[in-house]
Amino acid sequence: MNFIEMIKNRRSVYELNKNLPVVQDEVFDLIKDCVRYVPDAFNMQSQRVVIVVGQEQDRFWDAVYDEMVKFTGGRFSRERTDAFAAAYGTVLYFYDTAVVEETRRQYPLYAENFHDWVMQSNGMLQFAVWTALRTIGVGANLQHYNPIIDNIVSEMFDLPETWTLVGQMPFGGIEKSPDVKRIEDINIRVKIEK
Ligand SMILES: Cc1cc2nc3c(=O)[nH]c(=O)nc-3n(C[C@H](O)[C@H](O)[C@H](O)COP(=O)(O)O)c2cc1C
Repeated sequence: MNFIEMIKNRRSVYELNKNLPVVQDEVFDLIKDCVRYVPDAFNMQSQRVVIVVGQEQDRFWDAVYDEMVKFTGGRFSRERTDAFAAAYGTVLYFYDTAVVEETRRQYPLYAENFHDWVMQSNGMLQFAVWTALRTIGVGANLQHYNPIIDNIVSEMFDLPETWTLVGQMPFGGIEKSPDVKRIEDINIRVKIEK
């Protein structure tokens, strides 16, 4: 598969199951490689990931449900979190503010840019994992229950206070593929100057 095919195949898959088409270590290794090789400003290596599987997957999504019920005053559907819990696992994306602060101290001239850069690197990491998982037949989608769930995630997995949650990516076997998506005329979005 060439690179563009890989990018094309990555989609938001919401109907996921626990039947991974590969052994779970292959998924873990692939995610580790993405964290290893995705770039970061000043090579500061600020990105962090927690891979949640097994009983922790259910415990995590139960806790998200409880927090969302509190947050919405009871107006939150269990179906949503149950669908994510039905996936094999969830990748939690963070950046480490301790690393960012240290690099900011070293390069004070650029201090104001660091928040953008760290989020851009996190986005690159999310995209790399999402795309790479699909190359081994694993589907995924991207959720944002942060910052509502920040405290419970930190407590649940005993994480350093400096880890800031950015996104949650349920992944697993593909129960149902998504419909074809609308793609706008590319010449509206890309200008070529020559
Ligand atoms: C930065 C970003 C944030 C997103 N946030 C959410 C989200 O919170 N919940 C969700 O269900 N999908 C989310 N998505 C998925 C998009 O809705 C989806 O990627 C888009 O509609 C294109 O569909 P595709 O992923 O199938 O190509 C997000 C995607 C990106 C890139």
